[in-house]
Amino acid sequence: MKADEIRALKGVRKVTMLTAYDYQMAKMQDQAGVDVILVGDSLGMVVLGYKDTRSVTMEDMIRHTEAVSRGVEHAHIIGDMPINSYNTVEDAVKNARRFMDAGAQSVKIEGCHPEVVRSLISAGIPVIGHVGLLPQTAKKMKVKGKKKSEADLILEDAKALDELGVYAMVLECIPLKLSKKITEAVNAITIGIGAGIYCDGQVLVVNDMLGMESGYTPKHSKVYVNLNEIVSDAVKQYIEEVKTGKFPTNKYSFH
Ligand code: KIV
Repeated sequence: MKADEIRALKGVRKVTMLTAYDYQMAKMQDQAGVDVILVGDSLGMVVLGYKDTRSVTMEDMIRHTEAVSRGVEHAHIIGDMPINSYNTVEDAVKNARRFMDAGAQSVKIEGCHPEVVRSLISAGIPVIGHVGLLPQTAKKMKVKGKKKSEADLILEDAKALDELGVYAMVLECIPLKLSKKITEAVNAITIGIGAGIYCDGQVLVVNDMLGMESGYTPKHSKVYVNLNEIVSDAVKQYIEEVKTGKFPTNKYSFH
């Protein structure tokens, strides 16, 4: 699906997006019919084990975008531009082109950077914005826009991005009332994460919705399956069977 086709879904039906970072997960999501796959810089935490997204490099993102792209036939792929990859217009265009060469069909950048967005769109690269909680620069990972002054700034940024021509924008961790206001005010598709029901679509970090991390679930993430428990039980059973000689049986052996 192209960026324009996603934008055309505004008011027609909800858009579905999940993060993915590797070939197999991307392939499963694509075959299940998700509209959009975001190769998010949340890669830093959930795949690379960093404490936040700030250590993620272009090299990391390109390698994982290539892997995702090998598994996808239908879904739109977004490359998430990591911190410091769009500090200048020149860097932004050069790095966004690397994402496109790696198989992405659009790029996401955090915050409102008018010159960067304008240059990317002029270069023919569709852009998805990201307002509200901005993990690359946030001092604290908490809900944004509860205070009117902060909500007004977020709304202003969303409207500015819309006028610049982004086809979509992520609304991260903002109150319902604000995401409704933004969704009604912009032509772009709004994709919520911790932003409630009124958005035009939703995104979740796939590792969160699959329950892969034990003992931690962000409030906004519904856990659809407890993979941590399922994997842990399977690994324990394997250990037990190897130690007791129950595995491998004849069935798994060559003669
Ligand atoms: O990197 C990421 O996973 C994201 C989502 C939280 C939208 O940016």
